[in-house]
Amino acid sequence: MDYTSILHQVFDESKTDDGKVADYIPELSGINPAKFGIYLQTKDFKKIELGDSQEAFSIQSISKVFTLSMAFSLLGEKIWQRVGVEPSGSRFNSIIQLEYENGIPRNPFINAGALVVADILLSHLKNPKQDLLTFVQELAQDKSIDFDSRIAQSEKETGFHNASLVNMLKAHGNIKNNCSDVLDFYYHQCSLNMTCQQLAIAFSPFASLTEPFDFEGIILSKSQVKRINAIMLSCGFYDESGEFAFKVGLPGKSGVGGGIVAFQPHQYTIAVWSPKLNQKGNSVRGMKALELFTTLSGQSIF
Ligand code: DON
Repeated sequence: MDYTSILHQVFDESKTDDGKVADYIPELSGINPAKFGIYLQTKDFKKIELGDSQEAFSIQSISKVFTLSMAFSLLGEKIWQRVGVEPSGSRFNSIIQLEYENGIPRNPFINAGALVVADILLSHLKNPKQDLLTFVQELAQDKSIDFDSRIAQSEKETGFHNASLVNMLKAHGNIKNNCSDVLDFYYHQCSLNMTCQQLAIAFSPFASLTEPFDFEGIILSKSQVKRINAIMLSCGFYDESGEFAFKVGLPGKSGVGGGIVAFQPHQYTIAVWSPKLNQKGNSVRGMKALELFTTLSGQSIF
């Protein structure tokens, strides 16, 4: 497979003017909308990259895969008593479902679910922020990865949706810690800055390119990795998860910073970054690029 020429074609043909940079977190709004990076890592550890693949950006909701992995490793199956595994069909920060489903979020990748996962980590870890950082650095094999406190602070000042979600969860008994501590941890996880390269490497254990899954005491069995991957496929793109499976055909996760990481188990991981988002909060060019990649390479899970 000539991945280099495929990626060049993807780069050229994915160009678009559509979409809008996220501005509901003010610190995110200043990014250059023309940025575009792509990084592919194959099963034999060939690395092919183009554009701004070495520039760090705010990974936002992509961090929810890392925190879920930690909480699942710590709690095992009990985690599913506090958060479900069904697609929500609603916007990522919607509160409506949460009320009529009695404070049990549909899945760990909508904001409400990620807040419950954050609460679990606060209950089980002495230094949750540092432990998360160390875990992500180990996964990505890069100690330079860090939180961006300006982005965390910016989201704290404007995060009224998340504040209402955590309070609704608390009212239903599904938050055990102080609401502001849960939000502080959540804003920090979302503020992690990573490059396409770091993301593609960090997701290699999910794609089983490296085994076993054992990083800084966070151990996941093959069956647990399978479950996390299934949630990425069905819920990784919020109310656009069906569309992503239909067009791209890979498990993965997006964030409002414009990043998407996806993979074909046992074959490759791929990370793309383009800041302009569609109405659902997913990168327009990123989705287009991945659709082209799986079409041109003929490699998806279907
Ligand atoms: O809580 C928020 O709204 C953001 N920190 C994360 C949202 C996000 O990335 C959703 N992604 N598509």
